[in-house]
Amino acid sequence: MAAPVKIAWKNVTKRFGSKTVLDGLSLDAHEGKSLVIIGGSGTGKSVTIKTALGLIAPDKGVVEIDGRAVRPEDPSDPGLDQIGMLFQSGALFDSLTIWENIAFKLLKAGRMKRPEARARAIEALEQVDLEPDVANRATRELSGGMLKRASLARAIVTKPAILFFDEPTTGLDPVTADVINRLILRQVKSLGATAVTITHDMASMRMIADEVAMIEHGKIRWRGGLDGIEDCADPAVCAFVHGRSADE
Ligand SMILES: Nc1ncnc2c1ncn2[C@@H]1O[C@H](COP(=O)(O)OP(=O)(O)OP(=O)(O)O)[C@@H](O)[C@H]1O
Ligand SMILES: [Mg+2]
Repeated sequence: MAAPVKIAWKNVTKRFGSKTVLDGLSLDAHEGKSLVIIGGSGTGKSVTIKTALGLIAPDKGVVEIDGRAVRPEDPSDPGLDQIGMLFQSGALFDSLTIWENIAFKLLKAGRMKRPEARARAIEALEQVDLEPDVANRATRELSGGMLKRASLARAIVTKPAILFFDEPTTGLDPVTADVINRLILRQVKSLGATAVTITHDMASMRMIADEVAMIEHGKIRWRGGLDGIEDCADPAVCAFVHGRSADE
């Protein structure tokens, strides 16, 4: 039996000025599964995820989490509490130490005292293979790969039911990329999280995807399992995965 739907994009349209970025996009992410979104640069992949976070409001259509509409106007929406997000840019606060960045949500909600939150942050650092002494460092003292790991630690620290990863392995060496892929898998398999990952990294896609969806012209062009990718079920998907332009 198919897993229940955790996140549903229903006919989502989003324009910026005269440009229609999402054009009636519909997509389901199933509970406890890893969905990978692929597609050309600028096709609206990051915008798709941002609509589910309530950071961007659709012009038409709705995004539902557990059957309830995401309400961008309401930042206290409890739905957001169950989401961990790794932004494409990393996006850590440079005025905070690494552990304060990781524990930001725990501290902000006032749910936890600082020593306890710091311990949780260090636990999350260990999960991404960073040493505990990274905790007190400033963001500027870390390499790009370390920052990516720290951003990942921040995404997983609350053990969220939903994880969004926007280009988690881009710009990383293959070993670090492998660590990140394993972590995504672990979160999905052991914690039963629903993961939605945007990637251009086809090795990563093959490793983590239960399902793949390709965005083109603001809609889902194709969706299926990895077997469909290998069989070249759709010429555009096939071209994308094999790094060729469609009309070659
Ligand atoms: N806040 C915004 N204001 C105006 N335009 C935006 C905004 N966010 C995204 N866009 C535009 O929407 C389009 C899709 O952007 P998006 O970031 O979703 O692309 P993407 O598929 O994630 O691309 P990439 O693979 O390069 O990350 C782009 O043309 C972008 O310039
Ligand atoms: Mg993007």
